[in-house]
Amino acid sequence: MSSTQALVSKEPLLENIKVPKHIGVIMDGNGRWAKARGLPRSEGHRAGVESVRRIVELSIRYGVQCLTLFSFSSENWRRPPEEVNFIFGLLRRFVASDLARLAAQNVRIRIIGDRDSLEAGMKSIIAEAESKTAANTGLDLIIAFNYGAKAEIIDAVKRIAAKARAGEIDIATIDEATISQHLHTQDLPDPDLILRTSGEMRLSNFLLWQSAYSELVFVEESWPDFDEAVFLRALQEFTDRDRRFGGVES
Ligand code: IPE
Ligand code: IPE
Ligand code: MG
Repeated sequence: MSSTQALVSKEPLLENIKVPKHIGVIMDGNGRWAKARGLPRSEGHRAGVESVRRIVELSIRYGVQCLTLFSFSSENWRRPPEEVNFIFGLLRRFVASDLARLAAQNVRIRIIGDRDSLEAGMKSIIAEAESKTAANTGLDLIIAFNYGAKAEIIDAVKRIAAKARAGEIDIATIDEATISQHLHTQDLPDPDLILRTSGEMRLSNFLLWQSAYSELVFVEESWPDFDEAVFLRALQEFTDRDRRFGGVES
Protein backbone atom coordinates (compact mmCIF):
# COMPACT_ATOMS: atom_id res chain seq x y z
CA MET A 1 0.00 0.00 0.00
CA SER A 2 2.40 2.65 -1.17
CA SER A 3 -0.38 5.20 -1.60
CA THR A 4 -0.95 5.41 2.16
CA GLN A 5 1.06 8.55 2.76
CA ALA A 6 -0.26 10.36 -0.26
CA LEU A 7 -3.81 9.69 0.84
CA VAL A 8 -3.40 11.53 4.11
CA SER A 9 -3.57 14.73 2.06
CA LYS A 10 -6.85 13.71 0.50
CA GLU A 11 -7.92 16.67 -1.60
CA PRO A 12 -5.97 16.14 -4.84
CA LEU A 13 -6.79 12.44 -5.00
CA LEU A 14 -10.48 12.54 -4.17
CA GLU A 15 -11.76 12.65 -7.72
CA ASN A 16 -10.00 9.36 -8.40
CA ILE A 17 -11.65 7.51 -5.56
CA LYS A 18 -14.67 5.29 -6.09
CA VAL A 19 -17.00 5.50 -3.15
CA PRO A 20 -18.71 2.18 -2.40
CA LYS A 21 -22.50 2.27 -2.16
CA HIS A 22 -22.46 -0.03 0.82
CA ILE A 23 -19.58 -0.53 3.24
CA GLY A 24 -19.66 -3.29 5.84
CA VAL A 25 -17.26 -2.93 8.73
CA ILE A 26 -15.96 -5.58 11.10
CA MET A 27 -14.89 -3.29 13.92
CA ASP A 28 -12.18 -5.42 15.49
CA GLY A 29 -9.24 -4.97 17.83
CA ASN A 30 -10.74 -3.00 20.72
CA GLY A 31 -9.46 -5.45 23.32
CA ARG A 32 -5.92 -5.59 21.94
CA TRP A 33 -5.84 -1.80 21.61
CA ALA A 34 -6.68 -1.49 25.31
CA LYS A 35 -4.29 -4.23 26.39
CA ALA A 36 -1.41 -2.57 24.54
CA ARG A 37 -2.07 0.51 26.68
CA GLY A 38 -2.38 -1.36 29.95
CA LEU A 39 -6.12 -0.64 30.05
CA PRO A 40 -9.08 -2.96 30.61
CA ARG A 41 -10.78 -4.26 27.44
CA SER A 42 -13.80 -2.10 28.21
CA GLU A 43 -11.70 1.03 27.53
CA GLY A 44 -11.07 -0.29 24.04
CA HIS A 45 -14.79 -0.67 23.46
CA ARG A 46 -15.38 2.82 24.80
CA ALA A 47 -12.74 4.25 22.46
CA GLY A 48 -14.31 2.28 19.63
CA VAL A 49 -17.50 4.33 19.97
CA GLU A 50 -15.50 7.41 18.91
CA SER A 51 -14.49 5.53 15.76
CA VAL A 52 -18.16 4.73 15.14
CA ARG A 53 -18.87 8.46 15.26
CA ARG A 54 -15.97 9.11 12.90
CA ILE A 55 -17.01 6.54 10.31
CA VAL A 56 -20.60 7.77 10.32
CA GLU A 57 -19.42 11.35 9.71
CA LEU A 58 -17.03 10.21 6.98
CA SER A 59 -19.71 8.12 5.30
CA ILE A 60 -22.06 11.08 5.23
CA ARG A 61 -19.32 13.39 3.96
CA TYR A 62 -18.16 11.08 1.19
CA GLY A 63 -21.63 10.03 0.08
CA VAL A 64 -21.71 6.39 1.15
CA GLN A 65 -25.34 5.26 0.93
CA CYS A 66 -25.25 2.42 3.35
CA LEU A 67 -22.96 1.57 6.26
CA THR A 68 -23.24 -1.69 8.18
CA LEU A 69 -21.32 -1.90 11.45
CA PHE A 70 -20.72 -5.27 13.11
CA SER A 71 -20.96 -4.43 16.78
CA PHE A 72 -21.88 -7.67 18.56
CA SER A 73 -21.87 -11.13 17.05
CA SER A 74 -23.98 -14.11 18.03
CA GLU A 75 -20.69 -15.74 19.03
CA ASN A 76 -19.66 -12.84 21.29
CA TRP A 77 -21.86 -14.35 24.03
CA ARG A 78 -18.82 -16.57 24.66
CA ARG A 79 -17.13 -13.60 26.33
CA PRO A 80 -17.22 -12.94 30.07
CA PRO A 81 -20.64 -11.59 31.14
CA GLU A 82 -19.11 -8.30 32.38
CA GLU A 83 -17.75 -7.60 28.90
CA VAL A 84 -21.05 -8.52 27.25
CA ASN A 85 -22.89 -6.22 29.66
CA PHE A 86 -20.45 -3.42 28.97
CA ILE A 87 -20.94 -3.69 25.20
CA PHE A 88 -24.74 -3.73 25.64
CA GLY A 89 -24.44 -0.64 27.87
CA LEU A 90 -22.43 1.12 25.18
CA LEU A 91 -25.14 0.59 22.56
CA ARG A 92 -27.72 1.87 25.02
CA ARG A 93 -25.67 4.98 25.79
CA PHE A 94 -24.82 5.53 22.14
CA VAL A 95 -28.49 5.64 21.23
CA ALA A 96 -29.24 7.92 24.19
CA SER A 97 -26.47 10.38 23.32
CA ASP A 98 -26.40 10.27 19.51
CA LEU A 99 -29.90 9.46 18.29
CA ALA A 100 -31.15 13.05 18.14
CA ARG A 101 -28.10 14.21 16.17
CA LEU A 102 -28.20 11.26 13.79
CA ALA A 103 -31.91 11.82 13.20
CA ALA A 104 -31.22 15.51 12.45
CA GLN A 105 -28.50 14.43 9.99
CA ASN A 106 -31.13 12.49 8.04
CA VAL A 107 -29.57 9.12 8.99
CA ARG A 108 -31.87 6.11 8.90
CA ILE A 109 -30.96 3.57 11.56
CA ARG A 110 -31.72 -0.11 11.38
CA ILE A 111 -30.59 -2.93 13.61
CA ILE A 112 -30.09 -6.41 12.20
CA GLY A 113 -29.57 -9.60 14.18
CA ASP A 114 -31.58 -11.70 16.58
CA ARG A 115 -33.54 -9.20 18.61
CA ASP A 116 -36.15 -11.63 19.91
CA SER A 117 -33.72 -13.02 22.47
CA LEU A 118 -32.74 -9.57 23.77
CA GLU A 119 -34.25 -8.24 26.97
CA ALA A 120 -37.19 -5.84 26.75
CA GLY A 121 -35.13 -2.71 27.52
CA MET A 122 -32.79 -3.38 24.62
CA LYS A 123 -35.69 -4.14 22.30
CA SER A 124 -37.34 -0.83 23.06
CA ILE A 125 -34.10 1.13 22.53
CA ILE A 126 -33.72 -0.53 19.14
CA ALA A 127 -37.34 0.16 18.25
CA GLU A 128 -36.94 3.80 19.26
CA ALA A 129 -33.79 4.28 17.14
CA GLU A 130 -35.53 2.74 14.15
CA SER A 131 -38.87 4.49 14.49
CA LYS A 132 -37.37 7.95 15.08
CA THR A 133 -35.31 7.71 11.90
CA ALA A 134 -37.55 5.54 9.70
CA ALA A 135 -38.58 8.38 7.38
CA ASN A 136 -35.03 9.64 6.87
CA THR A 137 -33.50 9.48 3.42
CA GLY A 138 -29.78 10.04 4.02
CA LEU A 139 -27.21 7.51 5.15
CA ASP A 140 -28.59 4.05 5.93
CA LEU A 141 -26.84 3.08 9.15
CA ILE A 142 -27.24 -0.61 9.89
CA ILE A 143 -26.02 -1.89 13.22
CA ALA A 144 -25.44 -5.63 13.27
CA PHE A 145 -26.10 -6.43 16.90
CA ASN A 146 -26.48 -9.97 18.22
CA TYR A 147 -26.00 -10.80 14.56
CA GLY A 148 -24.69 -13.98 12.96
CA ALA A 149 -24.92 -14.68 9.24
CA LYS A 150 -25.54 -18.41 9.65
CA ALA A 151 -28.44 -17.75 12.03
CA GLU A 152 -29.78 -15.19 9.56
CA ILE A 153 -29.67 -17.76 6.74
CA ILE A 154 -31.30 -20.44 8.91
CA ASP A 155 -34.06 -17.98 9.76
CA ALA A 156 -34.57 -17.20 6.07
CA VAL A 157 -34.71 -20.90 5.17
CA LYS A 158 -37.33 -21.54 7.87
CA ARG A 159 -39.53 -18.69 6.70
CA ILE A 160 -39.25 -19.71 3.05
CA ALA A 161 -40.04 -23.33 3.96
CA ALA A 162 -43.10 -22.22 5.95
CA LYS A 163 -44.33 -20.18 2.99
CA ALA A 164 -43.75 -23.11 0.65
CA ARG A 165 -45.75 -25.38 2.95
CA ALA A 166 -48.54 -22.83 3.08
CA GLY A 167 -48.56 -22.71 -0.72
CA GLU A 168 -47.42 -19.07 -0.83
CA ILE A 169 -44.14 -19.91 -2.56
CA ASP A 170 -43.64 -22.36 -5.41
CA ILE A 171 -40.40 -24.22 -4.63
CA ALA A 172 -39.44 -24.21 -8.32
CA THR A 173 -39.33 -20.40 -8.31
CA ILE A 174 -36.95 -20.02 -5.35
CA ASP A 175 -33.97 -18.01 -6.57
CA GLU A 176 -31.29 -15.65 -5.24
CA ALA A 177 -33.80 -12.85 -4.85
CA THR A 178 -36.04 -15.08 -2.72
CA ILE A 179 -33.17 -15.76 -0.32
CA SER A 180 -32.01 -12.10 -0.29
CA GLN A 181 -35.50 -10.86 0.50
CA HIS A 182 -35.75 -13.14 3.51
CA LEU A 183 -32.47 -12.01 5.04
CA HIS A 184 -32.37 -9.22 7.62
CA THR A 185 -30.73 -6.99 5.00
CA GLN A 186 -33.73 -7.46 2.66
CA ASP A 187 -33.86 -4.43 0.42
CA LEU A 188 -30.30 -3.22 1.02
CA PRO A 189 -27.70 -3.52 -1.72
CA ASP A 190 -24.97 -6.09 -1.06
CA PRO A 191 -21.83 -4.56 0.45
CA ASP A 192 -19.31 -3.54 -2.20
CA LEU A 193 -16.59 -3.29 0.40
CA ILE A 194 -16.06 -5.12 3.65
CA LEU A 195 -13.44 -3.54 5.86
CA ARG A 196 -11.94 -5.28 8.86
CA THR A 197 -9.55 -3.62 11.26
CA SER A 198 -6.87 -5.13 13.52
CA GLY A 199 -5.16 -7.32 10.93
CA GLU A 200 -7.46 -10.35 11.28
CA MET A 201 -8.35 -11.80 7.89
CA ARG A 202 -11.69 -13.54 8.27
CA LEU A 203 -15.38 -12.76 8.14
CA SER A 204 -16.32 -14.18 11.56
CA ASN A 205 -19.90 -14.91 10.45
CA PHE A 206 -20.60 -11.42 9.04
CA LEU A 207 -22.89 -11.05 5.98
CA LEU A 208 -21.90 -14.40 4.46
CA TRP A 209 -24.54 -14.47 1.72
CA GLN A 210 -24.31 -10.75 0.96
CA SER A 211 -20.50 -10.72 0.70
CA ALA A 212 -20.31 -13.19 -2.20
CA TYR A 213 -18.73 -10.50 -4.40
CA SER A 214 -17.64 -7.94 -1.84
CA GLU A 215 -14.12 -6.60 -1.98
CA LEU A 216 -12.43 -7.47 1.31
CA VAL A 217 -10.00 -4.96 2.74
CA PHE A 218 -8.04 -5.71 5.89
CA VAL A 219 -6.12 -3.00 7.68
CA GLU A 220 -3.65 -3.35 10.55
CA GLU A 221 -5.03 -0.51 12.68
CA SER A 222 -7.23 -1.45 15.61
CA TRP A 223 -10.77 -0.13 15.52
CA PRO A 224 -10.15 2.66 18.11
CA ASP A 225 -7.41 3.98 15.78
CA PHE A 226 -9.73 4.16 12.78
CA ASP A 227 -9.69 7.62 11.22
CA GLU A 228 -10.01 9.43 7.91
CA ALA A 229 -6.59 8.28 6.70
CA VAL A 230 -7.57 4.64 7.23
CA PHE A 231 -10.95 5.26 5.59
CA LEU A 232 -9.37 6.81 2.52
CA ARG A 233 -6.73 4.09 2.28
CA ALA A 234 -9.50 1.48 2.27
CA LEU A 235 -11.38 3.42 -0.41
CA GLN A 236 -8.20 3.68 -2.47
CA GLU A 237 -7.66 -0.07 -2.16
CA PHE A 238 -11.28 -0.63 -3.21
CA THR A 239 -10.85 1.75 -6.15
CA ASP A 240 -7.75 -0.13 -7.32
CA ARG A 241 -9.52 -3.52 -7.37
CA ASP A 242 -10.84 -4.89 -10.63
CA ARG A 243 -14.30 -6.23 -9.87
CA ARG A 244 -15.00 -8.91 -12.44
CA PHE A 245 -18.00 -10.75 -10.96
CA GLY A 246 -16.91 -13.87 -12.81
CA GLY A 247 -16.50 -12.04 -16.10
CA VAL A 248 -13.38 -10.70 -17.73
CA GLU A 249 -11.26 -7.67 -16.93
CA SER A 250 -13.14 -4.39 -17.29
C1 IPE B 1 -14.18 -5.79 18.53
O1 IPE B 1 -13.04 -5.79 19.32
C2 IPE B 1 -15.44 -5.51 19.31
C3 IPE B 1 -16.33 -6.67 19.46
C4 IPE B 1 -16.14 -7.84 18.96
C5 IPE B 1 -17.52 -6.47 20.25
P1 IPE B 1 -12.64 -7.07 20.15
O2 IPE B 1 -13.28 -6.98 21.49
O3 IPE B 1 -12.89 -8.30 19.39
O4 IPE B 1 -11.08 -6.84 20.31
P2 IPE B 1 -9.95 -7.92 20.17
O5 IPE B 1 -10.14 -8.59 18.85
O6 IPE B 1 -10.11 -8.87 21.32
O7 IPE B 1 -8.69 -7.14 20.24
C1 IPE C 1 -16.16 -10.11 15.04
O1 IPE C 1 -15.06 -9.91 15.87
C2 IPE C 1 -17.39 -9.55 15.68
C3 IPE C 1 -17.46 -8.10 15.79
C4 IPE C 1 -16.57 -7.25 15.32
C5 IPE C 1 -18.63 -7.60 16.44
P1 IPE C 1 -14.55 -11.04 16.88
O2 IPE C 1 -13.39 -10.46 17.58
O3 IPE C 1 -15.67 -11.52 17.69
O4 IPE C 1 -14.10 -12.19 15.87
P2 IPE C 1 -13.10 -13.41 16.09
O5 IPE C 1 -13.52 -14.11 17.33
O6 IPE C 1 -11.73 -12.84 16.21
O7 IPE C 1 -13.26 -14.23 14.85
MG1 MG D 1 -11.83 -9.38 18.06
